[in-house]
Amino acid sequence: MPARFACSPRDPEFFRDPYPAYRAMRDLGDLFVWKDYGFVCSARHGVVGAALRDRRFGRDILDRASREDLGWPAPSPGLAPFLAFERGSMLEREPPAHTRLRGLVNRAFTARAVEGLRPAIVRLAETLADAIARQGGADLIADFAAPIPVAVICGLLGVPVEDGPQLVAWSHDMVAIYQFGADPAVEAACVAATLAFQDYARSAIAARRVRPRDDLLSALVAARDGADRLSEEELVTTVILLLNAGHEATVHAIGNALAVILAAGLDPSGLFADADATGRTVEECLRFDPPLHLFTRYALEDFVFCGRSFARGEKIGLLLAAAGRDPDRFPLPDRFDPTRAPGPHLAFGAGIHFCVGAPLARLELAVALPVLFNRLPGLRLAGPPVWRDSYHFRGLERLDAVWSGGRTG
Ligand code: HEM
Repeated sequence: MPARFACSPRDPEFFRDPYPAYRAMRDLGDLFVWKDYGFVCSARHGVVGAALRDRRFGRDILDRASREDLGWPAPSPGLAPFLAFERGSMLEREPPAHTRLRGLVNRAFTARAVEGLRPAIVRLAETLADAIARQGGADLIADFAAPIPVAVICGLLGVPVEDGPQLVAWSHDMVAIYQFGADPAVEAACVAATLAFQDYARSAIAARRVRPRDDLLSALVAARDGADRLSEEELVTTVILLLNAGHEATVHAIGNALAVILAAGLDPSGLFADADATGRTVEECLRFDPPLHLFTRYALEDFVFCGRSFARGEKIGLLLAAAGRDPDRFPLPDRFDPTRAPGPHLAFGAGIHFCVGAPLARLELAVALPVLFNRLPGLRLAGPPVWRDSYHFRGLERLDAVWSGGRTG
């Protein structure tokens, strides 16, 4: 029987700094029961990585067993539109549906298209950094981290960047459903946002069907209308998934990285001296404090994993961020050390659901961070970072910084 661990994800002591709790969780063994969630979890790198790659665990159990078979309660009826939306999402599916959905997105989401975004990201980051320079200080979340990913994903998909604030608002309401302790008000807001976002995506799709352009949306429409076929619902869900995933995690990846670098007090000129140094710094930020901490899988069959029997339909929680601090994989894991040889952190997951957007997220970090620190070399924290109560998302509410001194950019 795995040991049990009690700790509310809403306890401010936990969400301000979950890493001491993760250490205690790892010390309990390969597996433990997180009492507050009520399922078995792992906080160890080897186990989390193995479970993500083990095809006996999956995201979708309802394609092979009914709720009644699994003894699950009926879902809240009001949530039906959101659950129907999720059924079209590659994130929630297993092969062969997952393979088809992901293959079509991958085809449209080429490395060339991602790299082609670099000049626009540089320009945007420079504009934001210059505004901060003029102000002399800023909340780096609102004024720098938040505007970049939404503009980038709108540009890639080909929807107007002026729609960004509305898309962000819907997206916040939708992903809030994944937070610990989501209540009926959160569910209602999630469903309202899902319906509104679907209407928006449908009309954007209809416009591309009439007049295709050189953008990801047109490519997805072509894929929908081509041989492998996305259903109309899958196409709508995919557009929303990319808009949601494309900025929610990236905002906080940038914000968490800024907080880590500013708190460490390291010389930014060394951190971003060249492309290799920048790449190492980005990977270390993602290992040290990633924005998504917990993903779950279901046992797709009865089997034994890490010496414990899992029954079909049983959930396992995989703590990606805890895995990044496992001393068995990363020596002195609580030290932020951008000179360490990049190791395989799990911030983007692993296995068949490994993040489709990882190259884009890496590019955004690798462009935005050096631009800010090169243009504002004396940037420093103006107060303690304010963390959001939004576990399993880890991100900042505010990151106040001040700047004085000459500009080098
Ligand atoms: C630093 C920023 C990001 C982080 C930390 C991140 C993290 C992740 C993780 C951990 C998963 C796997 C979830 C699982 O295994 O259940 C995932 C999947 C995914 N991500 Fe990201 N992501 C980021 C940015 C992005 C961006 C920019 C996009 C799109 C433009 C994106 C699109 C997706 C999609 C579509 C999936 C589902 C893949 C699948 O199910 O096959 N992500 N992401």
